[in-house]
Amino acid sequence: MIIAIDGPSGAGKSTLGRMLARELGLLYLDTGAMYRAVAYAALRSGADTTDGEAMAKVAREANIELAGDPDSLQVLLDGHDISKEIRSEAAGHSASIISAIPKVRRELVRRQRELGARGGVVLDGRDIGTVVFPDADAKFFLTATPEQRAGRRYDEERRRAPDLNYEEILHDINARDNRDSSRTDSPLAIADNAVVFDTTELSIEEVFGRMLEVVQSKIASQGHSHSSERS
Ligand code: DC
Repeated sequence: MIIAIDGPSGAGKSTLGRMLARELGLLYLDTGAMYRAVAYAALRSGADTTDGEAMAKVAREANIELAGDPDSLQVLLDGHDISKEIRSEAAGHSASIISAIPKVRRELVRRQRELGARGGVVLDGRDIGTVVFPDADAKFFLTATPEQRAGRRYDEERRRAPDLNYEEILHDINARDNRDSSRTDSPLAIADNAVVFDTTELSIEEVFGRMLEVVQSKIASQGHSHSSERS
């Protein structure tokens, strides 16, 4: 079973992806964390994040591991835990820039397919249903207004960074949406057959319930088609 969840940042993909993975006993793969880990490796090495060849090399050489269960996912780079560092605004900003480089994408998509091929997995990202796993068993596109997403990010991050400013976050969200949707390679887009949820007015529990219904109906119809194949 492969479940694809795409959408802009702050739409609830990772919270809902983790909930689904836990409920269904699947692995959870945060593909944004992989782009962030490459960005972090690039920033640490001092390489120019706009240099495509240099970034492709960083991506190829980065030894990224995602370890632990969905609720306490650790991101390791060369064996070091960088789970906190990759959540900085600088890493998010650079991830959005390096993720537009085709050779970086090719390398990370290859690794995501390998990880997905091992078994049941929920992947969250921008291009999972369109590029990485276009034949996923269930595909979702989650969205919400930029103001709602900025408000959520502000509430989440305020504890860690008290000087954070809502207007700056909103500006960053709009810039990131723009970059992620307008790049030529694998732009953020709604995949064919994706079920779209606007989470602006819905609670996490409501969206979770609806996503679970979609997955369960897919499981039921697959079971049905397997049994009719056998009969
Ligand atoms: O989901 P996130 O905010 O952690 O992702 C960080 C950046 O990585 C985001 O701006 C776009 C990019 N990304 C991508 O291009 N493709 C993915 N599958 C996941 C993330």
